[in-house]
Amino acid sequence: MSLHIRTYREQDRDALIALWERCALTRPWNDPAADIDMCLRSREATLMVGYKEDGLIASVMVGHDGHRGWIYYLAVAPDRQGHGHGREMMAEAELWLTSRGIPKVQLMVRSDNGDAEAICAALGYAPQDVTVFGKWLNKPNAP
Ligand SMILES: CC(C)(COP(=O)(O)OP(=O)(O)OC[C@H]1O[C@@H](n2cnc3c(N)ncnc32)[C@H](O)[C@@H]1OP(=O)(O)O)[C@@H](O)C(=O)NCCC(=O)NCCS
Repeated sequence: MSLHIRTYREQDRDALIALWERCALTRPWNDPAADIDMCLRSREATLMVGYKEDGLIASVMVGHDGHRGWIYYLAVAPDRQGHGHGREMMAEAELWLTSRGIPKVQLMVRSDNGDAEAICAALGYAPQDVTVFGKWLNKPNAP
């Protein structure tokens, strides 16, 4: 059975957070449930999940700021990686953006994410000549 991709439903929550944990996408200073809730509140973002016959195995969160599209929580279960499902999830996310007229998409990759550069390159993403600066507005002790 091919990957079935649909928007998030509340029944996905536990499996989705477990997937993110297995894929090492969670961090102590980011509450994944709060990230889900924030995405659900936004009219400019969506959360997609990918299902196989044995359950939820993939995800991607996509949104835009009125200018650029942004990808978060791209994940495929470790034992299901390498079969094109990451590419399928990204294609859906990019379709969501292009259907809204957003001309460019970006994603931030943690510098300790070893394979991410090669995977991004394979998906057509190139490093950008910018430095990202950030500042927490509500978590002064987070890195
Ligand atoms: C990133 C991730 C979603 C990719 O999922 P996937 O299902 O394995 O990806 P695909 O099989 O669709 O592969 C997409 C492309 O990346 C390449 N790729 C996949 N894993 C790779 C690796 N470890 N090293 C180099 N290239 C890799 C594939 O060859 C493919 O390119 P191709 O179609 O030209 O052959 C998955 O590795 C993951 O969940 N990682 C942990 C979470 C994470 O790091 N997310 C953000 C990363 S940007």
